[in-house]
Amino acid sequence: MSNILIAYYSLTGNTEQVAAAIFAGLPEPKALKRIAEVKRLDEYDLVFIGFPVHSHSIPVPVENWLRGIPKGKKIALFSTHGAHTGSRLSREAVEYAVVVSSQAELISTFSCRGKVSPQALEVLGRSPEHEVWTEMAASARTHPDDNDLEDAANFARRVLTISRDQEGWRSGG
Ligand SMILES: Cc1cc2nc3c(=O)[nH]c(=O)nc-3n(C[C@H](O)[C@H](O)[C@H](O)COP(=O)(O)O)c2cc1C
Repeated sequence: MSNILIAYYSLTGNTEQVAAAIFAGLPEPKALKRIAEVKRLDEYDLVFIGFPVHSHSIPVPVENWLRGIPKGKKIALFSTHGAHTGSRLSREAVEYAVVVSSQAELISTFSCRGKVSPQALEVLGRSPEHEVWTEMAASARTHPDDNDLEDAANFARRVLTISRDQEGWRSGG
């Protein structure tokens, strides 16, 4: 039986909502924690890590945390972002997170849109480098929605199935 951790970083609650949907979609034993609360990973067989996209990348505390993941730990990454799902702007942060955590064993990734707080839109909208995604961000205002949360739960179950299959191959089963 896999002991699963869902660890997340969230400033305005979107990633936290997705983390809760992933948590709900998985069987016990499991735990849901903010990354700042996680001290050790050795008791977990599979770790989901969630974060928002910040300035086309990942928040610094998340980057530091990812670098500290033990070698070979099985992980799955998920993110929320204001930009359209599948756009380069939504993918580049996850791609960076994959590089930063390359000592771990990545199973899969998931991302969906998350509404951008009016304060963030106001501040970020002033700088030209954020122009493209702040225009897109308006249409993210209803996300994460029920479909996103269902997709997240399905992603979680798929990751667990892949992880169990890998264990089966390793043990020759
Ligand atoms: C400081 C800041 C920078 C952001 N930069 C980006 C960005 O570069 N690209 C993007 O798609 N969304 C960006 N966003 C939007 C967030 O990724 C999105 O709202 C996310 O769902 C927030 O997650 P949270 O509620 O878990 O903090 C930014 C938000 C903030 C507050």
